[in-house]
Amino acid sequence: MTLIKPPTPAGISAAAELLRSGEIVAIPTETVYGLAANALDPAAIEKVFAAKGRPRDNPLIVHVSDLGMARGLELEIPELAEKLAENFWAEGSPFQGPLTMVLKRKTAPPQSGIIPTEVSCGLNTVAVRVPAHPAALAIIKACGFPLAAPSANISGSPSPTKAKHVYADLNGRIPLIIDGGDCDCGVESTVVMFDDGKIKILRPGAVTMEMLSEFGDVVIDDECSLRSPGTRHKHYSPKAEVIAVIAENKEVFSKYIGKTEFVIANPEAQTFFSKLREFDELGAERIFIRLPEPVGIGLALYNRIVRAAEFKIVKAENDKSK
Ligand code: TXA
Ligand code: MG
Repeated sequence: MTLIKPPTPAGISAAAELLRSGEIVAIPTETVYGLAANALDPAAIEKVFAAKGRPRDNPLIVHVSDLGMARGLELEIPELAEKLAENFWAEGSPFQGPLTMVLKRKTAPPQSGIIPTEVSCGLNTVAVRVPAHPAALAIIKACGFPLAAPSANISGSPSPTKAKHVYADLNGRIPLIIDGGDCDCGVESTVVMFDDGKIKILRPGAVTMEMLSEFGDVVIDDECSLRSPGTRHKHYSPKAEVIAVIAENKEVFSKYIGKTEFVIANPEAQTFFSKLREFDELGAERIFIRLPEPVGIGLALYNRIVRAAEFKIVKAENDKSK
């Protein structure tokens, strides 16, 4: 029922045609696979929420081809946002990367051509990003309209970084998956908003705090959960129970391995979600994951791990007798 096509010109036009007719399509991005819909079409947006079983109070990110397309959406773009767009959204920039900016609406919906309230769940802001994956960009350009796209998984399950992950979750619920191979980053975009002239991180992601601090003062929203409603819900959970472990080294950590106990001793962004799904398939009952230092990309990983573990964190004992 769900077709999988490569991102050839024929695949791209098939995706664009479905999207134009109000359908939803899974597309590759450099972070994770997205479940895309015409961001201007409330009926298509409804299909995204239904297919994913997504809570209705968790707003979607709007994907545009460039800053120009974002300018057409009647959003306030402060100077700092312009500067970040020039560096993180522009093709070929040394900082190009997955950065989502939460921007204030200039006008309230429902005016034509602006993002309907269904996308932002009634908020007076809209989250916008420019994906770097060539297939995602080609599909947006072929459509000529922005695409609202959450991660293409069933709500609450690990984010999909391969087409087969999307298929496992959404087969029969969507007409088409464009298979662009494994996602480069493996964790989602960094979501920021602008507050008091500062860059405020609502969700840490593939663009690091260190990268952002080249362009202004950066703060981490300590109530990540408040403004980015998505962080409040059950997240990234495989079938197995996940336990986050503070451990000094790999050796201390390996004692957790058992017949149905699996470990991730050195979590890495690109393979993290994929491993959770792999261990489920192997019949894991518990997955122990060593917490990384929350610096650089480690901050995004740390955030995903503690949520997958539903905040269960234990400290490994330093057992020197073994
Ligand atoms: O890398 C990504 O961002 C991927 C790919 C597909 O682009 N998308 C993604 O979407 O991770 P999703 O729906 O899984 O997560 C969107 C996040 C949620 O935490 C949501 O609450 C937040 O963005 N968000 C969306 N609109 C917002 C808004 N107006 N204000 C605050 N947070 C918002
Ligand atoms: Mg998600």
